[in-house]
Amino acid sequence: MAKINQNYLKLPGSYLFSAIGKKVREFEAANPDKKVIRLGIGDVTQPIAPKIIESLHAAVDEMGKAESFRGYAPDLGYDFLRNIIAEKDFRSRGCEISPDEIFISDGAKCDCGNIQEIFSTDNKIAVCDPVYPVYVDSNVMAGRTGTYDEDRGQFDGVIYMPCNAQNGFAPDIPEETPDLIYLCFPNNPTGAVITKDRLQKWVDYANDRGSVILYDAAYEAYISEPGIPHSIYECKGARNCAIEFRSFSKTAGFTGLRLGFTVIPKDLKLEGVSVHGLWARRHGTKYNGAPYIIQRAGEAVYSDAGRAQVKEQIAYYMENAKLILEGLKSAGYEVYGGMNAPYIWLKTPGLMTSWEFFDHLLGRANVVGTPGSGFGPHGEGYFRLTAFGNRENTIEAIERIRWL
Ligand SMILES: Cc1ncc(COP(=O)(O)O)c(C=O)c1O
Repeated sequence: MAKINQNYLKLPGSYLFSAIGKKVREFEAANPDKKVIRLGIGDVTQPIAPKIIESLHAAVDEMGKAESFRGYAPDLGYDFLRNIIAEKDFRSRGCEISPDEIFISDGAKCDCGNIQEIFSTDNKIAVCDPVYPVYVDSNVMAGRTGTYDEDRGQFDGVIYMPCNAQNGFAPDIPEETPDLIYLCFPNNPTGAVITKDRLQKWVDYANDRGSVILYDAAYEAYISEPGIPHSIYECKGARNCAIEFRSFSKTAGFTGLRLGFTVIPKDLKLEGVSVHGLWARRHGTKYNGAPYIIQRAGEAVYSDAGRAQVKEQIAYYMENAKLILEGLKSAGYEVYGGMNAPYIWLKTPGLMTSWEFFDHLLGRANVVGTPGSGFGPHGEGYFRLTAFGNRENTIEAIERIRWL
């Protein structure tokens, strides 16, 4: 008789965004005259930049002619894209990454979720708390954790690294040594960044203990301040211990087009085995390559015109972030993030829990955000707003919150 993967049953039922969606639908049904503004889910709102659209059209036309038609893409990605990424995202920043260390995919979520497959199920993972849920849930599914403890709001067998105002929302080295360390900077949900010195400490620690750092840099393009690392490979020794994930979703509005990549340096070896080789084997077996037209669109992001246009979009979102940050500060809120990331992390007022503040904001200001407790117990008492809305709605939302 067929049996299911029992590990899936360890996952608690209600997913954060479906719980939010349900509450918002109920509110709208009961209050049809109210205009609800959504600053909750981290999806972009600006259309794809003209240079990228031009490239998409050209690639679509190529597919319609026998002489330029393309079938299956190379499963690790087209050279035209891998070459330009290696040059513009890494070598230009002094990071020695070669094109064949870059694996093109349809986004960072799949890669972050799938990467654990190539590591032993005995490995112990460490994650930030609060955390982007994919890192934990994918390891639960694989059986790398114990069961969910309702009281603690955490899985047994996982090292949770508290991120709070005291440590600047960047984790301290834990007492117990993890095998796999998930780090995400700029961070979702807190909007925090890590300095190069602190990231270097993590790299040194991982090399010393034989751990691997899984570094999610999906929001790298939002870094505005100098001295903040854009890639973990800016740190010495990272080629021996780190894997990096990147995404075109927030960099160039590809949440609907789907494109990302993972970097695995060939120097990363465990038990004498090349991790790069294992991922290549896994990718080749289970993945048939990102679509040609989307990879051409990705290439256009690196052209002079494409770069300028996506920079403008990011500046638009970051202007929203500034308006939210300043608006909330002047209204007396304690706020974090929003400087190098499109997320603003605010302390809920008084003793309100994250969900109480959610209800308060929805009911009184008709604004939707994300309760911090949905990202882990250390998110309790915090709330996430995103800068991905349009300007008009962002300004109106902040005005409404100021009048609460
Ligand atoms: C930290 C982080 N990593 C990865 C992703 C997913 O990126 P993609 O759209 O490329 O799958 C997100 C999306 O919200 C994210 O916040």
